[in-house]
Amino acid sequence: MNRSPESKVKTSPEVANESVDRERRRFLITATTVIGAVGVASAAVPFIGSMNPSRKAVAAGSPVDIDISKIHPAELITVLWRHKPAWVLRRTPEQLAALPGMDPTLKDPRNRQPQQPPGMAKGVYDYWRSIDKEYLVLIGICTHLGCIPDYVPKPGGSLGPSWKGGFHCPCHGSMYDLAGRVLKGSPAPLNLPVPPYYYVSPHVVRVGALNKGGLEENWTPAIW
Ligand code: FES
Repeated sequence: MNRSPESKVKTSPEVANESVDRERRRFLITATTVIGAVGVASAAVPFIGSMNPSRKAVAAGSPVDIDISKIHPAELITVLWRHKPAWVLRRTPEQLAALPGMDPTLKDPRNRQPQQPPGMAKGVYDYWRSIDKEYLVLIGICTHLGCIPDYVPKPGGSLGPSWKGGFHCPCHGSMYDLAGRVLKGSPAPLNLPVPPYYYVSPHVVRVGALNKGGLEENWTPAIW
């Protein structure tokens, strides 16, 4: 049977080389963006995968450190944690100013549902849902059926004149404000989850732990 050059069956060494090249490329991409779960993820890339110390360790919940010093105002970055997209959004003063007025439009404005670590749903956390109000840390998974919402910071536009900026799920249209609180009328039942995290230093957020004592093993959001 004639075979064109393109359809030539690849020999084992060729396949192996391709596989190595793919792995190498992936490693190089990753190595330039993250030092692993024990290192610090750069804010200069939009999506960062973690490969070190091991995927198993990360999947099991090893914390991931994120350098937030290079995030620009209104910029959102994504880092993998437990194979989930962990977002950090640096909110502008204008974005923060819109949050207190959102209450009448929200399903759970006071964070009554356990979609954030215990203790992060009271008082000053109500509007911001973050330790430092400027930096929002969320898991970017819609609480309806698990799609990844889009970050739509610009008010108005195709989402209508009442849209103040936030997150819009492309699957069935759920909308969340810039604190990840779900808007009334959305099919999603709950706010976007806030992962356990704390500040290792003024510019490094550790996602996957609530304090320096280690992992928060007994807490997960109701839906994520
Ligand atoms: S999965 Fe997001 S609205 Fe359905």
